[in-house]
Amino acid sequence: MTPILVTGGTGTLGRAVVRDLTAAGHDVRVFSRRTGGDLVTGKGLPEALADVETVVHLATTLRGPRDVRATRTLVDAATDVRHLVFVSIVGIDRIPIGYYRGKLAAERIVAERPHTILRTTQFHDLVKAILAGMAKLPVMPIPKLRAQPIDVRDVAARLTELATGDPGAEPQTWAARRSGPWPNSPTSTWRPPGNAARRSRSPSPARRSAKAPTSSPARPRAPSPSKGT
Ligand SMILES: NC(=O)c1ccc[n+]([C@@H]2O[C@H](COP(=O)([O-])OP(=O)(O)OC[C@H]3O[C@@H](n4cnc5c(N)ncnc54)[C@H](OP(=O)(O)O)[C@@H]3O)[C@@H](O)[C@H]2O)c1
Repeated sequence: MTPILVTGGTGTLGRAVVRDLTAAGHDVRVFSRRTGGDLVTGKGLPEALADVETVVHLATTLRGPRDVRATRTLVDAATDVRHLVFVSIVGIDRIPIGYYRGKLAAERIVAERPHTILRTTQFHDLVKAILAGMAKLPVMPIPKLRAQPIDVRDVAARLTELATGDPGAEPQTWAARRSGPWPNSPTSTWRPPGNAARRSRSPSPARRSAKAPTSSPARPRAPSPSKGT
């Protein structure tokens, strides 16, 4: 069995994918700056790709143009790879923000090799981090948005299946079954930190909604194909 290379294997999603692939008995190689590599410069990439037939590309620099450069570096180096699995985001072809434009450009680069693209919605961890940041303000703004976030473990399980299968032609989507308004559905387990509540002059919408009953499970049992957030 040849090793599977996971770029970004030290990140939120990457750790879950590495855990799943390892549990399934695969020899997993992690590539990130913490393990001595760099996708933007290509440092350590030829060594990391030696004998590798499958790459799961999860690394992100959190900057669209740098992600495009990193993906170009990877794809140019991965000439012998038989299957490149790439995680992308639902709605990137409809929402013109810089990070998403970079993701779309990276998808096209990935498509130069035998590949599978999995587009998912936002992870609970990301929604929680955004809300925690907003909760530092004296009054917490609640954006008028619907969201359909997913547990990173469900994304990892699907990526593990895809990585051990054959390349597919069309991008696939993966999301929780139901969407809902912020912050109820995405954050049914989230509570604003104590200091945010103290600093608000009146009960914040987040605090009210944190008390409101919600039927959305924190971890969807059966993720499903999605039309987007
Ligand atoms: N978060 C979400 O809600 C969400 C939703 C849909 C899709 N996605 C996609 O899922 C993927 C993983 O997201 P995540 O939230 O797990 O990200 P994350 O926690 O920020 O992890 C990013 C990973 O990329 C690595 N990395 C950063 N710069 C690098 C470089 N120059 N060379 C090599 N590795 C580098 C980081 O490791 P080092 O710091 O050690 O380099 C880390 O392992 C991304 O492609 C993201 O677009 C995320």
